[in-house]
Amino acid sequence: MPDNSKIRSLLIDAAARGADYRENAAERHVAPSREAIAGVERFIEPMPEAGTDDNEVLAILDEVGSPATVTMAGPRYFGFVIGGSLPVTVATNWLTTAWDQNVGMHEVTPATSTLERVAMDWMIELFGLPQGSAASFVTGATVANFTALAAARNRVYWDIDWNVEADGLIGAPPITIIVSEETHPTVFKSLGLLGFGRNRVVRAPVDGQGRIDASRFPAINGPTIICTQAGNVNTGAFDPVGDICELAKPKGAWVHVDGAFGLWAAASPNRAHLCSGFAAADSWATDAHKWLNVPYDSGVAFVRDTAALKSAMAITAEYLMTETEFRNPSDFTPELSRRARGVDVWAALKSLGRQGVAEMIDRCCSNARRFANGLSKAGFDVLNDVVLNQVLVSFGDDATNRSIIEDIQDDGTCWCGVTVWQQKTAMRISVCNWSTTEHDVDRSLEAILAIAQRHKNREKDRRG
Ligand SMILES: Cc1ncc(COP(=O)(O)O)c(C=O)c1O
Repeated sequence: MPDNSKIRSLLIDAAARGADYRENAAERHVAPSREAIAGVERFIEPMPEAGTDDNEVLAILDEVGSPATVTMAGPRYFGFVIGGSLPVTVATNWLTTAWDQNVGMHEVTPATSTLERVAMDWMIELFGLPQGSAASFVTGATVANFTALAAARNRVYWDIDWNVEADGLIGAPPITIIVSEETHPTVFKSLGLLGFGRNRVVRAPVDGQGRIDASRFPAINGPTIICTQAGNVNTGAFDPVGDICELAKPKGAWVHVDGAFGLWAAASPNRAHLCSGFAAADSWATDAHKWLNVPYDSGVAFVRDTAALKSAMAITAEYLMTETEFRNPSDFTPELSRRARGVDVWAALKSLGRQGVAEMIDRCCSNARRFANGLSKAGFDVLNDVVLNQVLVSFGDDATNRSIIEDIQDDGTCWCGVTVWQQKTAMRISVCNWSTTEHDVDRSLEAILAIAQRHKNREKDRRG
């Protein structure tokens, strides 16, 4: 028999530990200490023969694990493109986990499946995508790209009378895949997983910000899938998707948009122009765990051609309730069993409303601008046009940049990563956490500039 009072005290203990962690997130060193990192060795042990008390399991996780985490949930983490998680979404995520719903089929998960449908409808409206498009709730943008491109593959082959779903790609007629010189690596991975191969692509040239140059777009001939991007992972730049659709549509080509974070610009009236013409595309991928600030495991693929998506994803079996008048979530995703990740999306949208989403996007963009202004004013090169939430800055040569970035990470006031942009090493600042304030930007700038100045002085002394 379950001991309800033990279960309650365990879950309350977990909630209290989680709340403590979040309360301290704004003041912790962003990177963990070396001692805390060394401490994770304590996890490494032979498979235990006997069990451990549940409260003790939780205590070990917290006492050893928490100090060794990088504070990605905090307001001064600017690495990669990583949102935080809105408190309401952490709370709904915990409750949804307690429900333990397997959201593959509507009839056995009516609450979570309905919430996902609502979240889908709201996002389609928010992004201005075609009504009637289908959404797949998947793990992240990598799998969202994969899912959308699986639908593209089926549709493009259908149109030339090849049933790729049944007969596969061996012996199939060739099709052309056009990507750009700046396509995100995960799109190539998706192409590999789909059997197209990572390298059998035509690359469209880009401009100095990493945008496809529509005037130099490769000729479109025969069955074709085109991969475009909303939000370059370094510069935040947007491909001219509307122009590309105008070239592609008369030729019957499928246009996909990887909008892992950039698609959220469409939710702000002040940034929506960056996504103009996007509704003419055929599929879109995004992450809610990035800019909507929900917990990880929350990518979404949108596909206009529902039949093509279903043909790639749906299955039937005697024991499954796949014949239903309802929208069956597993008809649209690579997985059958999965957690109800769309509930977190619903919670974020319900909590913020349309205005709150727009404000969050705008706040991140204006904080990115604030970073860029502070860095330029101090005499450092901002390498990109700061149109969104991404800032690329160079402090000097390759070695200087790497050394300054390492010191910034060690200092712990904030966390920024390294990149190479058009042959130049640079520091990347990505502002997409809901809780980042102007004060956090100023505090981070102060630390960054002090470290950069120390390097400059040291270099001066060295040169005598
Ligand atoms: C443009 C773009 N596409 C795809 C991805 C991959 O997203 P995920 O890590 O959620 O799979 C990223 C990650 O930053 C990205 O920026």
